[in-house]
Amino acid sequence: MSDRVGIALLGYGTVGKGVVQILRDQAARFEQRTGVTFDLRHVVVRDLQKHRSESEKAEGVHRGLPFTTDAQAAINDPDVKIVVEVMGGIDPAAKYLADALKLGKHVITANKSLLAEKGPALFATARTHHACIAFEASCGGGIPIVESLTRGLLANRIDALVGIVNGTCNAILTRMTKNGWTYAQALAEAQSLGFAEADPTLDVSGADAAQKLALLAGLAFDARINPRDIHLEGITTLEPLDIKFAGELGYVVKLLAIGERTTEGKLVLRVHPTLVHHTDVLAEVSGGFNAISVYGNALGHALFYGRGAGSMPTASAVVSDLLSVGIGAAPAAFAKLRIYPDCVEQAMVEPIGDLRSRYYLRLLARDVPGTIAQISNCLGRHGISISAILQREDNGGKFVPIVITTHIAIEGNVAAALAEIDQLACIQPATVKLRIIDQPREFAES
Ligand code: NAP
Ligand code: HSE
Repeated sequence: MSDRVGIALLGYGTVGKGVVQILRDQAARFEQRTGVTFDLRHVVVRDLQKHRSESEKAEGVHRGLPFTTDAQAAINDPDVKIVVEVMGGIDPAAKYLADALKLGKHVITANKSLLAEKGPALFATARTHHACIAFEASCGGGIPIVESLTRGLLANRIDALVGIVNGTCNAILTRMTKNGWTYAQALAEAQSLGFAEADPTLDVSGADAAQKLALLAGLAFDARINPRDIHLEGITTLEPLDIKFAGELGYVVKLLAIGERTTEGKLVLRVHPTLVHHTDVLAEVSGGFNAISVYGNALGHALFYGRGAGSMPTASAVVSDLLSVGIGAAPAAFAKLRIYPDCVEQAMVEPIGDLRSRYYLRLLARDVPGTIAQISNCLGRHGISISAILQREDNGGKFVPIVITTHIAIEGNVAAALAEIDQLACIQPATVKLRIIDQPREFAES
């Protein structure tokens, strides 16, 4: 006998269409494997006429869908047991989800902005009303990273998590690195492929990655994390020249989301363009793909890799959550596990000035005697040791790029040194500073 589960789908855009596709294509298989039959009772959109007329003309699974603009009625329908939110934004999504939870309905969402902003309150509402929130699709698209952190890796103390979690930025950086495309060309392609958010500023500013890091690091480190506590630098000011120099030094530039636990129990949380050595597995991750390296005390290094955005990969995560709710696994885990933002302490976040990292510095310096001496003198006074230096033979007396990489240094000292260096008469500010991440610790010795 099959369990019939009523669903209201809020949103029929990139992700919503994929959800309908999978639900209807795979209905028989789902019933056979899980005993659950999903009854798609409402599909909530803004533009009813457009969707109705497109659906009338459509063939196959997208034909004859139950479109409505009345989200409230869809949520209140007593036969709806699960509300799937793939409309995006904070309002009115937050109200719809809170209303559904208060009625004891389970909620599935792909909306990391909403969870990063309103997560603690929504999770508390879910707990009060014996409902659950499932959110696999909010981080890493189709990659089951939320499931892995909450179940598969539960035996581990997670010490670090380093990820490429924004497909738009990775696609842009890949095109700029491998094809020499401009930033604008690469962004247009990412938008056309459906990776980018409605407002791509969220992607390229790094804010989308920070929201995902807040959720993932919260699960990994048993802490409540406010995305505003995450140090954030996007890719908009990244210059092709630095991508090129990084390549010459053996590095690939990636937007990384990094969370680490310090020995003092604080968290280091940051999102920024990072030089990744070409032998690091993350350097190979191209286009819209995502990859998250997780370091557990028992397992060691594990890599989660796959499509981090797009219609079907994201829908894969949404529908897996639907099945998990349908068979009762997600509600049971939600009720028992004390790892969600409503039942953990606020994170103690280390200030970025205390970060210890290696750095890539690119200066524009006058090609005259004594320039390098002045720069190295300043770095030395701030305790910063140079590991490599690169200057092309060119332009005697004019300004030329000089690239310096450092050994491990303290961020605050690097900032202080650069403030002084940028005041030198032989320097044209502002000096570019990027952080270098070394190979995963587990493999660094071999
Ligand atoms: P989208 O293509 O813009 O689709 C949004 C859908 O929601 C549209 O059908 C829209 O209706 C509907 N909608 C929006 N506001 C509404 C409102 N106030 N009332 C009723 N319907 C409303 O968005 P998407 O790319 O599918 O993304 C949806 C969510 O998934 C977002 O939270 C996003 O961050 C997340 N996500 C997306 C991806 C991806 O690859 N795209 C990956 C992971 C997570 P109309 O069609 O009538 O305008
Ligand atoms: N805009 C996001 C990205 C979609 O590019 O990764 C997936 O969350």
